[in-house]
Amino acid sequence: MNQPRMGGIATINAPAYVKQQKLINWVAEVATLTKPDRIYWCDGSQAEYDRLCSEMVAAGTMKKLNQEKRPNSYLACSDPSDVARVEDRTFICSAKEEDAGPTNNWTDPAEMRNTLHGLFDGCMQGRTMYVVPFSMGPLGSPIAHIGVELSDSPYVAVNMRIMTRMGKAVYDVLGTDGEFVPCVHSVGAPLAAGQKDVAWPCNPTKYIVHYPETREIWSYGSGYGGNALLGKKCFALRIASTMGRDQGWLAEHMLILGVESPAVNGQPGKKHYVAAAFPSACGKTNFAMLIPPVGFEGWKVTTIGDDIAWIKPGADGRLYAINPEAGYFGVAPGTNDKTNHNCMASLRENTIFTNVALTDDGDVWWEGMSSTAPDHLIDWQGKDWTPAIAKETGAKAAHPNARFTVAATQNPVIDAAWDDPAGVPISAFIFGGRRSTTVPLVTEARSWVEGVYMAATMGSETTAAAAGQQGIVRRDPFAMLPFIGYNMSDYFQHWLTLGEKLAAQGKQNSVELPKIFCVNWFRTGADGKFVWPGFGDNMRVLKWMLERLAGKSGGVEHLFGVTPRYADLSWEGLNFSEEQFERITAIDKAAWKAETALHTELFDKLKYHLPKELAEVKLTLEKNLAE
Ligand code: OXD
Ligand code: MN
Repeated sequence: MNQPRMGGIATINAPAYVKQQKLINWVAEVATLTKPDRIYWCDGSQAEYDRLCSEMVAAGTMKKLNQEKRPNSYLACSDPSDVARVEDRTFICSAKEEDAGPTNNWTDPAEMRNTLHGLFDGCMQGRTMYVVPFSMGPLGSPIAHIGVELSDSPYVAVNMRIMTRMGKAVYDVLGTDGEFVPCVHSVGAPLAAGQKDVAWPCNPTKYIVHYPETREIWSYGSGYGGNALLGKKCFALRIASTMGRDQGWLAEHMLILGVESPAVNGQPGKKHYVAAAFPSACGKTNFAMLIPPVGFEGWKVTTIGDDIAWIKPGADGRLYAINPEAGYFGVAPGTNDKTNHNCMASLRENTIFTNVALTDDGDVWWEGMSSTAPDHLIDWQGKDWTPAIAKETGAKAAHPNARFTVAATQNPVIDAAWDDPAGVPISAFIFGGRRSTTVPLVTEARSWVEGVYMAATMGSETTAAAAGQQGIVRRDPFAMLPFIGYNMSDYFQHWLTLGEKLAAQGKQNSVELPKIFCVNWFRTGADGKFVWPGFGDNMRVLKWMLERLAGKSGGVEHLFGVTPRYADLSWEGLNFSEEQFERITAIDKAAWKAETALHTELFDKLKYHLPKELAEVKLTLEKNLAE
């Protein structure tokens, strides 16, 4: 792997299976700028993964976990300054500022190129540049797209092997002139000759930059998660959303699950696929792997994806979705056998953990993994941790945004069609914010436009997935606030236009538009605790949705949609009173007046290109509230 240096510029040495000259030229161009010591073309093999992991163990970046307790698994701990996505350092550099819109950071592309040129010049010195070819989605699927990431981080290379279809086979799909999204990543920490590396190189200056017109990604200064694994948020959401706008499809921050009712009288159950958008760290992985509770025997929930959906219209007027990813980069804290048994089973082996704590017997632990913490741990910052220290200082053993990276194939409830190039037909969309008040447990939109309004005005209390203040309510339309690669009002319009097109196409084929629901699992009681049990019990809400899809009534219209009555949900196996139900479904008019005032604020901010249909829904809502 160590190729000779020639005159200070690493030799390109593209393997014979790389047939695309444009790609080779681009690698050469980036190498000339960034000046790595070596270039390594990843083939995606297990041997390569194992070797890169051992090299990182030797370098102190990762620890190998106890082979008996957690086979083939590793723990990486990041620099404390590099622990989450950096939204304030994320830029959409479209040619025109209005195309990035008021919710994105924008800089003129020429100016940004100039800044980045300075930063990337020589930034890989002393390091290896990994060429990481990947497919977002099943190889060759008409819904999938290809990217190539050039990164000076071996941690990125091994994580990309889990999170995407990464390796040699991508070049067969790419051929001599296939399209790919070029992604350049550097931790921004060049090494002078003889300089010793640190365990987690990074740079206090960070830039996560997207050029939507040329579909390029340039990321500098961070080695963590969505900042560095460029297939995920940068490509699969920000760049892909602009591709979807131009080409008539959707790239969404959504899990996709299959839900199947039990067989009755020898008749097989009915299976639906639903896609659900929740803000970061609001339990998407848990919902995607839900285990139906007692009383729901015979129901099956299976996972297509836990974070991102690419959804393209079929000729029949249906929407077909794939999970562009091949693994889960999930939040560890709070995950346990009760909250997500399937996830815990997925993590038994072959997993990379980042920023969790290390137990004395070489395993991992995080807050919420078990009700009693071990007596002693090494925390994510390498310090001794005991329950007594935690009590005294509040120190967390694991960082609240600690993560696991694991292949989707390790999920015991993976859906049989998860890798189907054709995708799966979507019957319903669910949008859920994290709100302790105001928004009821579940509401069905009476029309596509009303559903788009609900999604557009979603608010959520912020979580640890992004750096910054936590727990404040911010508007997070479609759970896409940090992820839309263009003007948000144009994105709303794109949803409305697609709905119209699908409705027209569907009519010819007797296909209904997917229903749209809005949920809120997070309303609290007077004691400040969540009232709704959530997790497996969300199945009760899912079942109601399926009944609505089947045309069964079981709901009442209220101010802005249809909500189930207490009697419309199945309560078998759960002690949940009508009063508790009232507490999480009641519509408080005063709260809703305050809420719609916030919608007005949002719409004012988004007034450039805001679709008039949304303003009309707001007017009706305000009128209903005034009655
Ligand atoms: C994620 C996020 O990592 O949304 O999925 O932050
Ligand atoms: Mn996410």
